[in-house]
Amino acid sequence: MVLSNRLMSLGVSPHRKLADFVYQLKLMGVKVISFAAGQPGVPPYEGAIKALGEALRKDPYRVSSYGPSAGLPELREAIAEDVKRAGGPDLTPEDVAIVSGGLDGLQLTLSVLTDPGDRVVVPEPSYGMYEYVSKFLGLRVEVCPQPSENGFQPDVECIAKHLRKGAKAVIIASPDNPTGRVADRGVLKAIAETAQESGAYVIYDEAYRYIYYEGSHYYLARDYPDVVIGVGSFSKDLAIPGFRLGFVYGPKEVIAGVKRLKGILGICASIPAQYAAAAGLRDPGFREYLKKVLGIYRSRRDVAYDALRRYLPEAGAYLPKAAMYIFADFRPYLEKLGVDDVKFAFDLAEKKHVVMVPGQAFGALGKGFMRVTFVTQDEATIEEGIKQVAEYLREAGAL
Ligand SMILES: Cc1ncc(COP(=O)(O)O)c(C=O)c1O
Repeated sequence: MVLSNRLMSLGVSPHRKLADFVYQLKLMGVKVISFAAGQPGVPPYEGAIKALGEALRKDPYRVSSYGPSAGLPELREAIAEDVKRAGGPDLTPEDVAIVSGGLDGLQLTLSVLTDPGDRVVVPEPSYGMYEYVSKFLGLRVEVCPQPSENGFQPDVECIAKHLRKGAKAVIIASPDNPTGRVADRGVLKAIAETAQESGAYVIYDEAYRYIYYEGSHYYLARDYPDVVIGVGSFSKDLAIPGFRLGFVYGPKEVIAGVKRLKGILGICASIPAQYAAAAGLRDPGFREYLKKVLGIYRSRRDVAYDALRRYLPEAGAYLPKAAMYIFADFRPYLEKLGVDDVKFAFDLAEKKHVVMVPGQAFGALGKGFMRVTFVTQDEATIEEGIKQVAEYLREAGAL
């Protein structure tokens, strides 16, 4: 069978290969400590699940039916209220499109804004799917650095240069995956201003807009509503990644395009998930839940940071202000081992059954780093996992 060049040219991410390898280990009954998943470490918000259960019991036909491509009006209304309450722009439900997760939102937004051959700017290291989706859509990806030496802040000059030279959009996440960095307001504003001058857009990935340990989220669209497209997710805050639900808001013509394309490519986002999210967002208990969850994550973050510093003193670990990850600089150890981050990740999984995602999964500029997800394990397991990494390095003569 001959598959499309479009698909085959994408290659397989080291993240995917590692996940398959770990799956095989688990099938063999091996107990694995995984710092790999981008998954919340707590059950979903109960209010959302209860509301879904009630809706299904009361009217299973309606909750299981097709719905509007734009999304359920009550969810669009709940998002508009929620974004405003959180300090974001004053949206109407019309300004919001419901999609099947943030990733779907990114794909649809890029599809609405670009044609094959267009250019899009992606700072790296960043969420690996930006590059995959862009390439799949036939776009040329202009990579700009967001280096660790600069606290992973995006290089404004580089982004501005590409936007001035005709790139259609830049994709920026804040808080970011894999680094957990929060973009400086000045940096975001400078990028939005250049986009405005150049007739380009900022695709602002806000998947972690509620996952902050210090400070709170800056809604760039509030100051630049004509050029910023916000892409949100319920995977992290309501902790329902498997429900596949997110949203996109922004300039009217862009959102109209997203709704239209959602209808063509997917009919509508999951209707049961939309009932759950609408009830969850409006429930005052959601804020209490978030507070509790952030407390749990903060404590796990502190333990992961502390363990990294104690057991692996040469790995550049830092305390992230947001999101679910530490992107630690393993170059000092990798140089001694004479391997790259991908080989190290596989060796570590095989020998010590500890899994971290190699930095190259987030672009070539992530080489030499390892992403440590700190939210999915309890404190004792985090400590044990990091200790095992140190043990591996010691046995290999690198520590
Ligand atoms: C920065 C970022 N954007 C988008 C997504 C996709 O989220 P969703 O589950 O809503 O598709 C993720 C998932 O990990 C992410 O880290």
